[in-house]
Amino acid sequence: MYNDKVIWITGASSGIGKSLALEFARQGATVILSARRADALAEVKAACDTVSSGRGASIVLPMDVTDEASLPKCVTDAVAAAGRIDMLINNAGISQRSSCLNTDMATYRKIFEVDVFGQIALTKAVLPQMIAQGGGHLVITASVAGKIGAPFRTGYCAAKHAVVGFFDALRTEVDQHNIQVSTILPGFIRTELSENAMTGDGSAFGKTDSNIAAGMDPDECARVIVKGLSKGKPEIGVGSGVEMHGLWIKRFFPSVLFKLMNKQYARSAKEDGFV
Ligand SMILES: NC(=O)c1ccc[n+]([C@@H]2O[C@H](COP(=O)([O-])OP(=O)(O)OC[C@H]3O[C@@H](n4cnc5c(N)ncnc54)[C@H](OP(=O)(O)O)[C@@H]3O)[C@@H](O)[C@H]2O)c1
Repeated sequence: MYNDKVIWITGASSGIGKSLALEFARQGATVILSARRADALAEVKAACDTVSSGRGASIVLPMDVTDEASLPKCVTDAVAAAGRIDMLINNAGISQRSSCLNTDMATYRKIFEVDVFGQIALTKAVLPQMIAQGGGHLVITASVAGKIGAPFRTGYCAAKHAVVGFFDALRTEVDQHNIQVSTILPGFIRTELSENAMTGDGSAFGKTDSNIAAGMDPDECARVIVKGLSKGKPEIGVGSGVEMHGLWIKRFFPSVLFKLMNKQYARSAKEDGFV
C-alpha cells in the first residue's frame, strides 16, 4: 500500500511518531523523520532502514516546529530529498500537567506554539506542494483531549480542541485539490508524553503518570493509525482504556461526562500529585 510513498512525520524521535515511522517503513514507504533531537532521529532512521521493505532509505530532517521562518526551507529540503510529499503527519506535541491556577501564561503560549501554531505553519508550508503535485494526505495527531476537557491539562485540551477545529475546516477547503485530512484521537499511549509535559512554570513534569503508564503500546497504536489512514478515515480513535468511551459519552450525555471528569480530577490529584 505504501510502497514508494513519501510520508513526512514530525515528532518522529520518540513515542507515537517513532512507532509510525517504523510501521510505514515496514510497509515500504520512504519516511522523512523530523523533530528537534538529531541524534535520536538518527537512531530511528537506522531502525527504519533495518525493517524497511521499500526502495528508499529514510531521511532525517531535524526541525523545530515553532521556528516558523525555517519551515518553508524544510519543505524545500524534503521535496529535494524525496521528490514529493504524499502524506504529512503533524505529530509533534507537548502536554501539560498543572492546574490553571498554577500555570503561567508563558506556559500556555508555549503549548500553543508547539501544538497549534507549529502544526498550522507546517501544514500551510506543505499545502502548495501537495496542490502542485495533484493531491496528498494531511494528518494531525490531536487527542481524546481534543474532544474532552481533562483536569490538569487546560492548555493542552484547549490546543487539541483548536487543531481538531482547524483540520475539520481545512478538510472542506482542500477536498477540491484531492487532498485528504485525517485527525488522530489517541487515548493514553505509553510514550514520553507525561515526562516531557510542562508544569505551570514551564519545567518538565519529569515522570510517567499512572494513565500513561497503563496506556496502549505505541507500536500497537501505530498499527491502528496506519490501518485507519490506509482506509482514508477522516477521524481515527486509538486507545485501549476507558477514556475511549468518553468520546461517545461526551457526544450523547455531556452532563454524565462532566461528572465522571470530576472524579478523574480527584483520582489524578491523589495518584499523580498534580498541582
Ligand atoms: N501519549 C499519549 O497518551 C497521547 C495521547 C493523545 C495524543 N498524543 C499526541 O501524540 C503526539 C506524539 O506524542 P507522544 O505521546 O509520542 O509523546 P513524546 O514521546 O513526548 O513525543 C513527542 C514528540 O514531539 C517532538 N517535539 C516536541 N516539541 C517539538 C518541537 N518544538 N519541534 C519539533 N518536534 C517537537 C519530540 O521530539 P524532540 O524532543 O526531539 O523535538 C517528540 O518526538 C503529540 O502530539 C501528543 O500530544 C499523545
